[in-house]
Amino acid sequence: MEELHQMGGVPMGWKFALPKGDPKQGRQVFVKLECYACHAVQGESFPEQPGQVGPDLTGMGIHHPAAYFVETIINPNRIIVVGEGYTGSDGLSIMPNYNEDLTVAELVDLVAYLKSLTPKGGHSHTGH
Ligand code: HEC
Repeated sequence: MEELHQMGGVPMGWKFALPKGDPKQGRQVFVKLECYACHAVQGESFPEQPGQVGPDLTGMGIHHPAAYFVETIINPNRIIVVGEGYTGSDGLSIMPNYNEDLTVAELVDLVAYLKSLTPKGGHSHTGH
């Protein structure tokens, strides 16, 4: 216990991790919450983008750890990606906050989906 406290309350090398999610379910969450309204994913067939802007998420899975995706979803203003039209006149991200609507299970699956996005386009069904 003493040692744990000296380490800041976590075992050595500890990192935040999510339980294993289901990318297929996560894709459904992506569609349900209409993330495609602002984010393109090449190789996927979503309803048309109504012209709002956000970064292209094609191949995103290999570029960021899961914890980063969690943060982009539950706290979009923590790190604001710079781009034309990405922020409003208040300087904050135009990405909506989903924290009242999203269950933890949905969040876990949604992140699994984002992690499954490969540079080739679309997503792999293997879970990674
Ligand atoms: C109204 C448009 C809009 C919607 C809807 C939206 N986003 Fe975003 N999203 C943005 C913008 C703009 C940014 C870049 C600014 C920022 O960092 O917040 C962003 C950033 C992100 C990033 C970080 C990308 C990077 O390159 O680091 C991820 C991941 C993401 N969004 C996922 C989602 C998911 C998942 C949903 C649905 C739950 C969603 N977004 C819904 C506009 C949107």
